[in-house]
Amino acid sequence: MSVIRSIVTGCGSFLPEKVLTNSDLAKMVDTSDEWIVQRTGIEQRHIASEGQVTSDLALEAAQRALQNAGRDATDIDTIILATATPDNTFPATAVTVQASLGITHGFAFDVQAVCSGFVYALTTADAYIRAGLSERCLVIGAETFSRILDWEDRTTCVLFGDGAGALVVEKSESEGTTSDRGILTSHLRSDGRHKEKLYVDGGPSATQTVGHLRMEGREVFKHAVGMITDVIEDAYEATGFTSDDLDWFVPHQANKRIIDASAKKLRIAPEKVVTTVQMHGNTSAASIPLALDTAITDGRVKKNDLVMLEAMGGGFTWGSVLLRW
Ligand code: UT7
Repeated sequence: MSVIRSIVTGCGSFLPEKVLTNSDLAKMVDTSDEWIVQRTGIEQRHIASEGQVTSDLALEAAQRALQNAGRDATDIDTIILATATPDNTFPATAVTVQASLGITHGFAFDVQAVCSGFVYALTTADAYIRAGLSERCLVIGAETFSRILDWEDRTTCVLFGDGAGALVVEKSESEGTTSDRGILTSHLRSDGRHKEKLYVDGGPSATQTVGHLRMEGREVFKHAVGMITDVIEDAYEATGFTSDDLDWFVPHQANKRIIDASAKKLRIAPEKVVTTVQMHGNTSAASIPLALDTAITDGRVKKNDLVMLEAMGGGFTWGSVLLRW
């Protein structure tokens, strides 16, 4: 019997040109390269130039993903864009990308789950494809967190950066075994009781301002590893796989210590872990496709590899997607 699966056919990413190093930051706030590297693994982040908005980064990543998939923009019927830093309160940043790509059919919308946004968007695309609503999706994570940082708060401004990544995800039919390509299982979670541990202190309805990111970093850290490992274990339970079966672990890139601790708890071999946080800091919804694109471009992730994606962030929100590339 044949079943519908969502397979990834292309990947692309984009980082703005301007680089802000840890040493640059040490001239702005009371911090040091040593502290940032030791506590987070981050060495530098990219910052969007004046006038360069989230949809600009998203468009670049989307065009690269389309090229990688060998698809024209007009082949796409659905754009799902994960962001917590949209160009405007509305319309969705996804429709700006749709217009820039010259697509006038289908539909486009944003998903808001902060750092878990890409996992939520990919799971949404998979559900739309399997429900028959979509056939070819662009799933994008794009952020300009530099615009919502308090550049005088050393506890947060050293952690985040700007960037975008995208996947082309298409309907495919197969026998539906775990050896067939595509998204095998997804597990999404949220718990709003933690919403004040990582939030932005502004918004259209509450303050009529954009606001700045506020975080109790230690509290987020405390919950992160447990939440991440829980949803990965859910994926193992749903499929029968274990950490030994994974070819690659591509986590949300927030902090190298969280990534390493999660991999250790799950007994995932260090050589299977894709870590790019040192190059771009925490880019929220963009981080997973940025890491994926790096590992595809350098030849690590190959067709038919078993790949585990996971993320955790504001809300709290968290989730995992297990797919055969
Ligand atoms: O996608 C999810 C988004 N968020 C995260 O993943 C963040 C999760 N949390 C973390 O990654 C870590 O908690 C941080 C990297 C934010 C902080 O690391 P930590 O080991 O938890 O440090 P801490 O907050 O316990 O702070 C230790 C010390 C404090 O000084 P005292 O109180 O011990 O004197 C801070 O004031 O480090 C100080 N500190 C800094 N020092 C230099 C905080 N930020 C800085 C800084 N430079 N940038």
